Amino acid sequence: MYICLCKAISDKTIVQSAQNGCDYAQIRKQTGVGTECGKCTQVAKSLVKEVISTVKIPA
Ligand code: FES
Repeated sequence: MYICLCKAISDKTIVQSAQNGCDYAQIRKQTGVGTECGKCTQVAKSLVKEVISTVKIPA
């Protein structure tokens, strides 16, 4: 599903980036999510926050 229609960024792309350790600012810089109309910003941030909260940090 597309999260950002302006830049054609899918939820999968955002989730993968977050799982790889990127925060929202880094994902925004890399993909351009939220840099056009900005309507996707809150959803994208929530998705990143959700992924980060569920990622298990190796001991
Ligand atoms: S939908 Fe993401 S910037 Fe417009």
